[in-house]
Amino acid sequence: MCSQYKNCLRTALNNQASLNNKQHETSFLSKQVVVVSIDLKWDVDFSSKVISGFATLTVERKQDEAQHLILDARDLSIKAVRDEETGQVLQYTLGDPHPNFGSEFKIILPSDTKKKYKVQIEYEVSPKSSALQWLDPEQTAGKKHPYLFSQCQAIHCRSLVPCQDTPAVKATYTAEVKAPSELVVLMSALRDGHKEEGNGTVFRFRQPVPMPSYLIAIAVGALESREVGPRTLVWSEKEFVDKAAFEFSETETMLKTAEELCGDYVWSQYDLLILPPSFPYGGMENPCLTFVTPTLLAGDRSLADVVAHEISHSWTGNLVTNKQWEHFWLNEGFTMFVERKIAGRMHGEATRNFSAIGGWKDLRDCIRTRDDGKDPLTCLIPDLTGVDPDDAFSTVPYEKGHTFLWYLETLVGGPSKFEPFLKAYLDKFKYQSIDSDIFRNFLFEFFADKKSVFDVVEWDAWWKTPGMPPIKPEFDNSLAVACTELCQRWVKWDVATDCPFKSTDLDTLSANQVREFLALLLEEDPPLSVQKLEKMDDLYSMSERNNAEIKFRWIRLGLKAHWRDQVDTAVKFVTEQGRMKFVRPIYRDLYNWPEMRNHAIATYETNKNSMMHVAAYVVAKDLHLRK
Ligand code: BES
Ligand code: ZN
Repeated sequence: MCSQYKNCLRTALNNQASLNNKQHETSFLSKQVVVVSIDLKWDVDFSSKVISGFATLTVERKQDEAQHLILDARDLSIKAVRDEETGQVLQYTLGDPHPNFGSEFKIILPSDTKKKYKVQIEYEVSPKSSALQWLDPEQTAGKKHPYLFSQCQAIHCRSLVPCQDTPAVKATYTAEVKAPSELVVLMSALRDGHKEEGNGTVFRFRQPVPMPSYLIAIAVGALESREVGPRTLVWSEKEFVDKAAFEFSETETMLKTAEELCGDYVWSQYDLLILPPSFPYGGMENPCLTFVTPTLLAGDRSLADVVAHEISHSWTGNLVTNKQWEHFWLNEGFTMFVERKIAGRMHGEATRNFSAIGGWKDLRDCIRTRDDGKDPLTCLIPDLTGVDPDDAFSTVPYEKGHTFLWYLETLVGGPSKFEPFLKAYLDKFKYQSIDSDIFRNFLFEFFADKKSVFDVVEWDAWWKTPGMPPIKPEFDNSLAVACTELCQRWVKWDVATDCPFKSTDLDTLSANQVREFLALLLEEDPPLSVQKLEKMDDLYSMSERNNAEIKFRWIRLGLKAHWRDQVDTAVKFVTEQGRMKFVRPIYRDLYNWPEMRNHAIATYETNKNSMMHVAAYVVAKDLHLRK
């Protein structure tokens, strides 16, 4: 490991030890012995849906008397543990499994006084690993080859790798992965060549930058690539690789813009992988290889802001990391903020403001569905004791976090003052994991000469109080007015009078303005009538739109109005793709429509086996099939 990282890592660990000794609820972590690097040697077997092999952990003893290496493990079958250098077999215990958090995996270290060990764990990953989705050939675009992909954030890495599965610990990694010859293996790391070996191909990887376990990722499939920039390949099944290359052609411009704001890009390569439709997120910031949903392929680059978001994580999240999931806003709030800064620099401040207006609306919608703003999980820094981060996941850390940073930017005197702070913050805490107090201390330190501007900040209201933020910023609404006006005209139209709308009404609106227009209509109570929606469809051909964000809101408008013709479209939409942002609200809408409740449940039961673990888990809760 390069010495620059080494030093930072050491400071990071010292910080962590002194500032937080609390046991992490979602990890069995003990800081006495820490993992500093991981070497994986895997064999991927599609017929048994099993990954088998070795994880060799380089660990450092931080306290002289420490005898145990404590790891997290979930659904892993452990075959043997050895000291790799001496071959000595090491004893271990696996605690009783918690259904979501897995087991404490405690390895007894040799009784000598060495500071460093290489602990080799021989093991198998279960076919039901919550980190993986195994797809049969029929579930892929090409229909000929199987596919495998992972999603480790927040706490699923432990069901793929025995590790210290907490964002407080960072490690480098390498991997050697054997897969059937007709397939390609990709990981969240630099590609280091491949060679034929027996009946398969072995792909090698290295990730020289220390990173938290949740960023370990793998995909195996019949993948192809196109170069779209000097450090970017776009990967997918061959069926959509050209479309993807077009959609994401702005990637290098986004990377350069992000570097202007945040500092050098340290991960060298920035590739994109377009996953099969069941991928449960819009995007996932796996280092060197962002994963994205194919629902971004709108054909007009209108949904590429998700790529700007994942690029931003290369600093906010992947370099400066939330130490515990309670401080997730340090990852996602900052990332929304940088994402919108990139949009501002590329397309103008009005676009940045327009996107922030959309975010504020998403936040309101989210908080309304969470116990009308009383749910303690709507705090910016929630108490997650015993809570699975998948259950806590919401728009709150994203948009309340973003709004908070927007507010601080205004307080200190605007972008010319705040952007230097942002850069200094990222530089100061890169390669570390921090919490909100560390952020605040640095904010005060950076603005020491005008610290009193922060006297007005109601920290508890922002950080520790459920519901909407205490202050709504004044956004420039120049791009939103056309959306608001058209929305209001539809709401106010008396259907007994002549229809005042024309098929050309939307011609001057961008795809994102149409999305905003529908988002505004969705907020209306009572909902728009079926009669109006039918007219709107006649005029604007809404049902024929392929932009997933537009389609999603159009379907929801139909369901809110109890428009029966839309039910089949809704069911098709939630079964042909698995992005939770779309799937969950539509299932909830169907559930809340009494005559459709059973249909929603039956649809879920038929499809749950082709959903990724996390999506099936949360939708079961949304449909009240599980507590
Ligand atoms: N890191 C998240 C996805 C995530 C969060 C996965 C928590 C698992 C647990 C990713 O960066 C993200 O925020 N994706 C968004 C993109 C959007 C905000 C532009 C998504 O999936 O919709
Ligand atoms: Zn994110």
